[in-house]
Amino acid sequence: MSTSKGKFISFEGIDACGKSTQVKLLLAEMNKNSNCTVLVREPGGSTISEEIRQILLNDKLDDMSFRTEALLMTGSRAQLTNEKIYPTLSVGKNVIADRYSDSTLAYQGGGRGLDIKWLIELNRFATNNLNPDVTFLLDLHPNEALNRRGNDNDRIEKAGFELQMKVRNSYLEIAKLFDDRIVIIDGHQNQNAIHTEILNELNRRKIIS
Ligand code: TYD
Repeated sequence: MSTSKGKFISFEGIDACGKSTQVKLLLAEMNKNSNCTVLVREPGGSTISEEIRQILLNDKLDDMSFRTEALLMTGSRAQLTNEKIYPTLSVGKNVIADRYSDSTLAYQGGGRGLDIKWLIELNRFATNNLNPDVTFLLDLHPNEALNRRGNDNDRIEKAGFELQMKVRNSYLEIAKLFDDRIVIIDGHQNQNAIHTEILNELNRRKIIS
């Protein structure tokens, strides 16, 4: 996909890693002086993608095959990218995504055991080769995440602790694969320390000033 004018920032991590809090803090900071930044979440973020989300997270649909899961995740991403992310970047606004392509690599690849190489290609197809300028991986031990989480688990969260362990390890491997783009942040720190680290990195990369 051609070079866009706005900046694209994604957040990744296991369930309950503190991602959504950081996403909101960063959104507020970037929109402090002008409304130049838009937030999207995955799976979902557009009408069609939210419909797909309902299927993906429905805990009654526990016979969904892992390949179907991967295709629906990337299907949702294709629509969101085409309908929202790319047009937003094209007019010079920034996008913060609460999850993007790396979630599919970590959950469907590392977690479910599907071939990462295929998933990378599937992501390429779904996003028309759009990649975030920078990705923050909030790394947290699943024990700590478990303490932070309530009981209201969706279909994927119900897959449990073992899945979260695999997903965490997979994220750390993916971060090595794309080490120029993915920044690992220690999610065990307090909220303010994490927020400051994220702002410093965005400054260093001249994404914000
Ligand atoms: P959500 O309630 O949005 O969780 P979170 O706040 O942790 O993002 O549920 C999204 C779930 O879908 C989460 O368990 C991660 C999973 N997921 C995948 O398995 N693959 C993907 O490609 C994406 C985007 C999400």
